[in-house]
Amino acid sequence: MKINTFFYFLAPVFLLGLSFTAFSQTAPYKEPKFHSDWSKPSVYPDRIILNFGEHPESQIGITWRTNSEIDSGFVEIAKASGDPKFWQNKKTIPANTGVFDAREIETAEVLAHYHSLEIDKLEPATKYGYRVGDGERWSEWFQFETASADTEKEFSFLYVGDAQNYILELWSRLIREGFKTAPDAKFFIHAGDLINTAHKEQDWHEWFTAGGFIHSMIPSLPTPGNHEYRAKDSLENIQKIRSLSLQWQPQFTLPKNGPEGLEETVYYMDYQDARIISLNSNRDLEIQAEWLESLLQKTKQKWIIVTYHHPMYSASSGRDNATLREIWKPIFDKYHVDLALQGHDHSYARGRVSPGENVLEGVNLRDQTGTVYVVSVSGGKMYEVGGDWTELGATKDRSGENTQLFQVITVKGDHLLFESYTAIGELYDSFELIKTENGPNKFIELRAKAIDERVSQEK
Ligand SMILES: [Fe+2]
Repeated sequence: MKINTFFYFLAPVFLLGLSFTAFSQTAPYKEPKFHSDWSKPSVYPDRIILNFGEHPESQIGITWRTNSEIDSGFVEIAKASGDPKFWQNKKTIPANTGVFDAREIETAEVLAHYHSLEIDKLEPATKYGYRVGDGERWSEWFQFETASADTEKEFSFLYVGDAQNYILELWSRLIREGFKTAPDAKFFIHAGDLINTAHKEQDWHEWFTAGGFIHSMIPSLPTPGNHEYRAKDSLENIQKIRSLSLQWQPQFTLPKNGPEGLEETVYYMDYQDARIISLNSNRDLEIQAEWLESLLQKTKQKWIIVTYHHPMYSASSGRDNATLREIWKPIFDKYHVDLALQGHDHSYARGRVSPGENVLEGVNLRDQTGTVYVVSVSGGKMYEVGGDWTELGATKDRSGENTQLFQVITVKGDHLLFESYTAIGELYDSFELIKTENGPNKFIELRAKAIDERVSQEK
């Protein structure tokens, strides 16, 4: 080969090969630096978030934050229309303002005001515009929609497991892809460990920044995980007391219909024909069992969907929560909870109790189901899957690891469609439940429609 031929024809190919090799090597992780002053409150509203009340066809909770100079707040609200002056018939309603003084708390070190308002007597199936401010400085107009009075009307909602780590870096793409896939989702379930370090302002700021206007448009139903609990100071550390994240109650305006002392962590709302219940798997399991039993005795809704953080059946080895099964599962079974939405294990698992292969009166029991249990993860921290459910009398139908996921759940009359998606919008898992006359739900396995299972090795 002439030397010229090498330089003109083969050298570019050779160099391209070298650079591709360099590109495809795994790069070491380097934590990004974000703006150091960014989580400080100002005179302008930030962290604007919606929560539904117990009756989402007529109630909404609105919360936001300012610095301590702003000692009053207002919500302006009007029925939305295409007319840019839709706000002419607005109501201006004063909000409640509370002082959030965490200046002495390590990692918080902040003084702020939180403003919140619960609005009721809204009209069902109606799109409202609202903005928040102090009368002079306002947010943009956001929109939300109340639930329908027609309990059979189709609706979808989103559910995610732990955001917790790499929130702004990586959870951002996940929540935004979720919004893109289900822009009409009526609410958003966060199954605990929204952040990594309870009380830490930076974590909460990442959570609010990653979600951006989604938090201000789609009401959130958060349930606390173990990472929402932490000692506030060295004295609590010595006494092994872990307090709920100081920001939780100021920054969410949730239904106060749970047991005393667990308000806004244990609560429920009735979205059309679904009763959605948040439980707190960190503490007081017996108190909640009693509360749950009395609540479910009176439940008339067709669908019962429960969310809490620690899984009833773990997705990973060595993370079993036997006490939960002992205390809560008999109630789930007795009152036919349809779906349990969980987090904590940083992987994916979906299964159910003893579906079996036996044919009874012409029906294969595999095609019927009690509660379906799901574990999912949305942030960037990942664990391997593991743990044997068969010895616990349950079957894992689908697993996943090393995959950020969000779920879209659609309810229409007697049908519930469950879909899990990866952070790039690939269908990862799916099944359908159908209500039958007084019997267990009919179960339709749809995982064959999804991409291949993402599990690194045979477990
Ligand atoms: Fe957790």
